[in-house]
Amino acid sequence: MQTFATSKIELLPETSARKIFGLIRDELALVEAEFERQARSNIQVINYLGDYLRSSGGKRVRPALLILASHAVGGKGTDDNVIRLATVMEMLHTATLVHDDIIDNADLRRNRASVNARFGNQTAVLMGDWLYMTAFETSLRERSLEILDILTRLTRKMTEGELIQLTMIGRLDITEADYFDILKRKTAYLFSACGEIGAILAGATLAQQHAMRDYGMELGIAFQLADDILDLTSEAEKLGKTAGSDLLEGKITLPLIYLLAEEPELRPKFEKVMLTGKYNDISREVIREKLEAHGTLEMIRLEAKRRADAARKSLDVLPETEYRFALEGIPGFVVDRNM
Ligand code: IPE
Ligand code: IPE
Ligand code: MG
Ligand code: MG
Repeated sequence: MQTFATSKIELLPETSARKIFGLIRDELALVEAEFERQARSNIQVINYLGDYLRSSGGKRVRPALLILASHAVGGKGTDDNVIRLATVMEMLHTATLVHDDIIDNADLRRNRASVNARFGNQTAVLMGDWLYMTAFETSLRERSLEILDILTRLTRKMTEGELIQLTMIGRLDITEADYFDILKRKTAYLFSACGEIGAILAGATLAQQHAMRDYGMELGIAFQLADDILDLTSEAEKLGKTAGSDLLEGKITLPLIYLLAEEPELRPKFEKVMLTGKYNDISREVIREKLEAHGTLEMIRLEAKRRADAARKSLDVLPETEYRFALEGIPGFVVDRNM
């Protein structure tokens, strides 16, 4: 294994995603193969949909996190159980995306038609269920109640998050606390579970396990804050999914909560956008200008950076290895990402 000192120098000029992911290239290739194996079925339609989902790509942030966490506490990322659980996390993530796109009525995912848009809601519901169950079946092979406990709790929290979000659709009175509750449930707990399970599989001490859990949580929060900024500032070509959709879908995210506090007179305009599903009364450009003018996006970026710092800080208890260094690099990449 490379020492921290040399890898730090080597990685310093550009702690890019490519370098971080390059460190675990072999493991990620094994995850792809495992995903392919798991999504294989003698039921033709499942095979077809499994392929459709797997081949559309995705950043694979969650399996990467689990693998790096495992390495960082002294485990071997290529171990069968690490690869299996990394695949489980990507399958759970995929299942939530498939269901989320039905709920959000989203047409585009990873630069192609979402499963619901292409094959219909009925098929998408069932394919999401199938992915959840296959993920659980795979995780059961670990015979670890501790891991199963984390996964079931996580899945319940994610579903609760989507349900809570549904009850808030179209509501302008959503508070910062509501927002963070939903955000943690729909995104951060999954990141947190990736860190924690990676550590458990490597036989981490309790302190290390908790450090990885906390790291994932803070990273997940930063990740979703960035996602919510990108929805306002980016375009579909870059994101691979429709931009500007949060407000159209009736979701007031943190930047919009802050903006409404600055300019309460925007409320009827936002209501109209949510009601009609069109940026007729106020354009995305005008919203973006207002966000810039009030320094709102800067505030959210700062909050994301604070979360990124907190994530990095959690890693202090880990030995200084290239894997820890890679984990230290991820929060920065997540906050500054453009996809
Ligand atoms: C999308 O996650 C859902 C959110 C939590 C914002 P990703 O941005 O990781 O999606 P893929 O897997 O790369 O497509
Ligand atoms: C992401 O929420 C959370 C999920 C668990 C799917 P979003 O609704 O913001 O995700 P995108 O923007 O559709 O990827
Ligand atoms: Mg969505
Ligand atoms: Mg989003």
